Amino acid sequence: MNASTQVSGQASGASPEAIRYHYDVGNDFYRLWLDANMVYSGAMWGPDDDLEAAQLRKIDYHIWEAGAPGSANVLDIGCGWGALLRRLVGEHGVARAVGLTLSDAQAEWARARSDGRVDVRVESWADHVPAAPYDAIISIGAFEHFARLESSEEEKIDNYRAFFQQCQRWLRPNGRMSLQTFAYGNTRSRREATASPSTQFLANEIFPETDPPRLANIAEATEGSFEVVSLRNDRKDYARTCRVWLDNLRTRRDDLVALVGEEKVARYERYLQYSFYGFETGNLGLFRITLRRIEPKWQPKR
Ligand SMILES: C[S@@+](CC[C@H](N)C(=O)[O-])C[C@H]1O[C@@H](n2cnc3c(N)ncnc32)[C@H](O)[C@@H]1O
Repeated sequence: MNASTQVSGQASGASPEAIRYHYDVGNDFYRLWLDANMVYSGAMWGPDDDLEAAQLRKIDYHIWEAGAPGSANVLDIGCGWGALLRRLVGEHGVARAVGLTLSDAQAEWARARSDGRVDVRVESWADHVPAAPYDAIISIGAFEHFARLESSEEEKIDNYRAFFQQCQRWLRPNGRMSLQTFAYGNTRSRREATASPSTQFLANEIFPETDPPRLANIAEATEGSFEVVSLRNDRKDYARTCRVWLDNLRTRRDDLVALVGEEKVARYERYLQYSFYGFETGNLGLFRITLRRIEPKWQPKR
């Protein structure tokens, strides 16, 4: 594994500045409406779960799907505030967990709550150089940032393909990756989805330089690098998560306004309402995809 295997400078997804615009609003802001572990992605709801339990259920699901329990070295791409990293070493016997984020605020929070088994790096996947092959890779809620609204379909797929090829190189033979991403649903064409007021609002006001994939993009981009082992669309789980976040935000509205101002809170309220509606109607899907590395000898010639 050396620098020559990098795709440095490739990441024409969201820039570090665009990521910080969203995630560095402040840890105190997110703490008021996320769960205690600061998980910021669609949960997986069991019958009696509250938000915290549903988030841990989702994290454990990905850990099992990736075959990570008891392993030596696991990578979390887009580690947020570090909940999965803490769970890997604390509950699943993983010796070393590496997390990548582009947000300084997230990294600071995650480092303050972990020990020497966890390595949180402010680094894009495109620039990452592993110290050793990974036994498993997990990425939850980051893939959405790997392409921009103005990118052509071909550019998006090229980016995603570069991402999967890196993960293929980094994994040990037969290693697995568990990926969670939301995506445009099949209810509308890309043109209709892109032109919709909700997409325009989200891209301009909430997640700059970001555009989710379509399932077909992911399928095409994994050709030659990963086999799909399983695929679930749990969009109703994300709808419920947005509903609970919105309720939390409204319950703590006064504190949030005192922290970041009325305008920003109103913007987040609108974002969560749009997202709830998107997942509820199927305009957005929530994909949980288990992938097995294809051994390079089987790679088709391009
Ligand atoms: C919605 S958060 C999800 C965080 C976490 N996985 C969770 O479920 O709570 C997206 C994460 O992806 C990270 N991210 C976005 N683009 C990235 C990139 N190119 N390389 C590494 N991390 C990235 C962000 O910094 C952030 O930590």
